[in-house]
Amino acid sequence: MENHNTQFPDRFSLISATDADYQAWRMIKLEQASDLLANSDPVLIGDLSAITPAEHDELSRRCEISNAVFYHDTQETSDPDTVGNLLRQFAQNIGLRIAEKHRSAGKDGIVSLQVSDSVSQKGYIPYSKKPMNWHTDGYYNAPDDKIRAMVLHCVRAADTGGVNQVFDPEIAYIRLRDENPAYITALMHPFAMTIPENREPNGNVRPASIGPVFEVNPQTGHLEMRYTARTRSIEWRDDATTRAAVDFLQSVLNSDDPYIQTIKMQDGDGLLCNNSLHNRTGFDANSDNASTRLLMRVRFHNRVNWREKRRT
Ligand SMILES: [Fe+2]
Repeated sequence: MENHNTQFPDRFSLISATDADYQAWRMIKLEQASDLLANSDPVLIGDLSAITPAEHDELSRRCEISNAVFYHDTQETSDPDTVGNLLRQFAQNIGLRIAEKHRSAGKDGIVSLQVSDSVSQKGYIPYSKKPMNWHTDGYYNAPDDKIRAMVLHCVRAADTGGVNQVFDPEIAYIRLRDENPAYITALMHPFAMTIPENREPNGNVRPASIGPVFEVNPQTGHLEMRYTARTRSIEWRDDATTRAAVDFLQSVLNSDDPYIQTIKMQDGDGLLCNNSLHNRTGFDANSDNASTRLLMRVRFHNRVNWREKRRT
């Protein structure tokens, strides 16, 4: 198998490198990502539970370059339980460890994102028709419960709206560092972003989550990002550079940056990503009844690591 990672010998270099190293990495990164976006038809998957070597390699190639890949289940499996089983096998076959703690996850860690009036979901935006602002998943999680990868799989698309945007955290990093390297320093501060304690309707208390926006995983050397564009129930470090960095990042996310992917996933479409930044528009606003839109989400503690999987 071709080693698609030759241009990224050590992700630590992203953070610790000299400026010359950073510029060299940056140039290749943007070039490869641009080529990928120019031809972004989803990878066709014949059987999610048993991907072929060719499908595996194409998913791998794209995910290595841009941390995200769209695929399409050519069977367009419509039964949610069956989709859940397929996704579990898909994840296992690419070496992902399912995170199971989410309150809405079944025992298998798979969450159905649909309009819901259930006690534990009512009032939460993911289970409504409302738009969701930019975020990475699990930004409020404890450090030992980090979300590093996820799959979002569309079982039934919305009639109108429900469009997702996806942005590679490494390109967000590039935009910030190019604008002002001090922005990176500020967002790597261990107290950069605080999500205050939250008492949930069922009485559970989620403790405050305090941490950086950007972090380099010491085990893997990969850049990890923790972010939400929410403006309520969030405290940014009280520092002028941090505030300016957050404003700048928000302006990038609201821009027409060519590396932001905008897609309305159709039945059978899915996104596999290393917890990329993402959002969604509102959907089915004109229908009085609950929307039939159904996306299934699986979150993982580890990131997609194709090289490791291939060795085993
Ligand atoms: Fe999300």
